[in-house]
Amino acid sequence: MLADGELISGAVIGEQLGISRTAVWNHLNQLQDWGVPVKKIKGRGYCIEGGMELLSRQRITEALSPGSKTLLRELHLLDHVDSTNTIARRQIENRVGSGYVCMAEMQTQGRGRLGRQWVSPFGRNMYLSAIWEFQGGAVVLEGLSLAVGVAMCRAIESFGVEDVMLKWPNDILLGGRKVGGILLEMLGDPVGCCQVVIGIGINFAMPEEAAIDQPWSDLGGHKTVTRNALAGRVLSELLPLLSGYADTGFQYYKPEWEGYDAHHGKKVQLLTPGKVVEGIASGVSDSGAICLEIDGKRSFFSGGEISLRSLV
Ligand code: BTN
Repeated sequence: MLADGELISGAVIGEQLGISRTAVWNHLNQLQDWGVPVKKIKGRGYCIEGGMELLSRQRITEALSPGSKTLLRELHLLDHVDSTNTIARRQIENRVGSGYVCMAEMQTQGRGRLGRQWVSPFGRNMYLSAIWEFQGGAVVLEGLSLAVGVAMCRAIESFGVEDVMLKWPNDILLGGRKVGGILLEMLGDPVGCCQVVIGIGINFAMPEEAAIDQPWSDLGGHKTVTRNALAGRVLSELLPLLSGYADTGFQYYKPEWEGYDAHHGKKVQLLTPGKVVEGIASGVSDSGAICLEIDGKRSFFSGGEISLRSLV
């Protein structure tokens, strides 16, 4: 009711929802606690200045490519969740398979790589998790998270946004600052049939004061992008990639990944659990491992616990 930005009285909200004034007040407080800027105008009612675009099945579906429409089995839109990756994992336990996608307006326990938190305020950004099932186990999945990074760059660029790049393994950068991230979680048999949860977060309109411990960016300044259209284009790139990945592998996406590589030819530091390694970033292998040139020799590094830092 408030999303259109119009002023509405507490009495009308209560009447339309069939709830008391106190219940309306509690809901509005809840929205404010979630960071939704509900403005109270004394004696007249409430509004959200400028309105906000909530997730809409119709708008997301309108933005889907014909090919991705047939691959999308279920689109589950939620308000308030712990983590969309957790929701998707639960669906796998209920035997839901490839093509299930869930999105939420807000996550209370959004998670990132390396045990980090993913800041996920209400109605601001994109939080999406998809399920895909693969035969052949972990080997088939090599490089998948990097390939998904390529798909995200394509989706963002399709709106005419420039300066989109990737930081190994799969941070999405805009103007050199992190605008999105990808978290893959695998369930099932690591050498047989396994299910993967592909979690994607893209900052759309992050509040200025967000407590994020690294340089970040959002798509807010790009007026051509709307949250629902973004979700539609993300799925239009992601679902065909997932359905073809057992055949293409990462090899197919590698040249494009290297084209987006923000660090190519630059001096970097890799933080691994045991040690810190320095070298010149020199692309990636066919399985998505990063290549560093160290004292003229090329070495490859892969695995989840490594993070890359730029050395200027
Ligand atoms: C990273 O860069 O550290 C990965 C961030 C992944 C965030 C997304 S938001 C949707 C999905 N649900 C989560 O809890 N995490 C992923």
